[in-house]
Amino acid sequence: MFKILTKEKLCPVIDLMKIEAPAIAKKAKAGQFVVVRVDEVGERIPLTLADWDDKEGTVTLVSMQVGTTTHKLAALNAGDNILDLIGPLGLPSEIENFGTVVCVGGGVGVAPIYPVARALKQAGNKVITIMGARSKDLLFWEDRLKSVSHELIVTTDDGSYGRKGVVTEPLKELLEKNKQISRVIAIGPAIMMKFCSLTTKPFGVHTIVSLNSIMVDGTGMCGCCRVSVGDKTKFVCVDGPEFDGHQVDWDLVFNRQRSYCDEEKESMDLWKAHSCQHS
Ligand SMILES: Cc1cc2nc3c(=O)[nH]c(=O)nc-3n(C[C@H](O)[C@H](O)[C@H](O)COP(=O)(O)OP(=O)(O)OC[C@H]3O[C@@H](n4cnc5c(N)ncnc54)[C@H](O)[C@@H]3O)c2cc1C
Ligand code: FES
Repeated sequence: MFKILTKEKLCPVIDLMKIEAPAIAKKAKAGQFVVVRVDEVGERIPLTLADWDDKEGTVTLVSMQVGTTTHKLAALNAGDNILDLIGPLGLPSEIENFGTVVCVGGGVGVAPIYPVARALKQAGNKVITIMGARSKDLLFWEDRLKSVSHELIVTTDDGSYGRKGVVTEPLKELLEKNKQISRVIAIGPAIMMKFCSLTTKPFGVHTIVSLNSIMVDGTGMCGCCRVSVGDKTKFVCVDGPEFDGHQVDWDLVFNRQRSYCDEEKESMDLWKAHSCQHS
């Protein structure tokens, strides 16, 4: 059992939980994730380690409510327990002094980009961060990202805060005016990561994306998280989650993400009916 110590609503559909998990906090590295099982009948879902504190023995997860399990998780509060938390899983981010790097976080991807930007800054890089959301009410952690970046650009699709538009627009401008950019790291919805990769490709700038494929075991055994990178089959949970965005077969990523849409809807309908009965 893993105790939730604090819970904070970052925006209407995104929650932060600080959880007691000393063994995971001790080994955690930027870019890694945990697999969470909320209760005995629950499915297993991957969530990135958004932060951790080795001394406190805690890890921080930020999750967006999209389906049954993330809604179940959001229904828990400080003092409640999560049944299983397995990790840290996946390969850590590659952290070196590359020079100037651009970190792009979109939507809930702002949370996982934070420890990556922090580690890159600590390694001596000049870090330029672009964070984006559909609108102002879905933005969070601007202060945190500012603290680990030399420059921060905020965008909203509807222009309700920061610059109006999508993250690829300032990304393209930065690439046009700054020839020193040696690497771009993008974390967010798959469609955003695809377009970040398409934006950087003509400039020949190495681009890392963190793939969010559907997972089951998270340890390389079930094959559920299969993707194709550079025409080679890779498992996101053990070979990733970070890959070269220019080499990813994005159509396969999108197709596999949609594999269980009917089952996910049925499960969500059952959860809503169950929640109504008990409220
Ligand atoms: C390595 C990794 C790290 C992740 N880190 C985070 C994180 O830090 N915070 C966070 O909020 N989410 C994160 N995700 C996504 C998260 O795992 C999914 O949102 C979650 O599994 C959905 O479960 P559900 O039962 O609530 O929704 P479901 O009913 O299973 O799905 C609802 C909708 O979400 C889509 N979906 C399902 N699984 C995923 C997925 N893995 N990625 C993207 N969309 C999905 C479905 O296609 C469907 O449209 C991560 C995914 C991976 C692979
Ligand atoms: S989740 Fe099963 S192989 Fe990756």
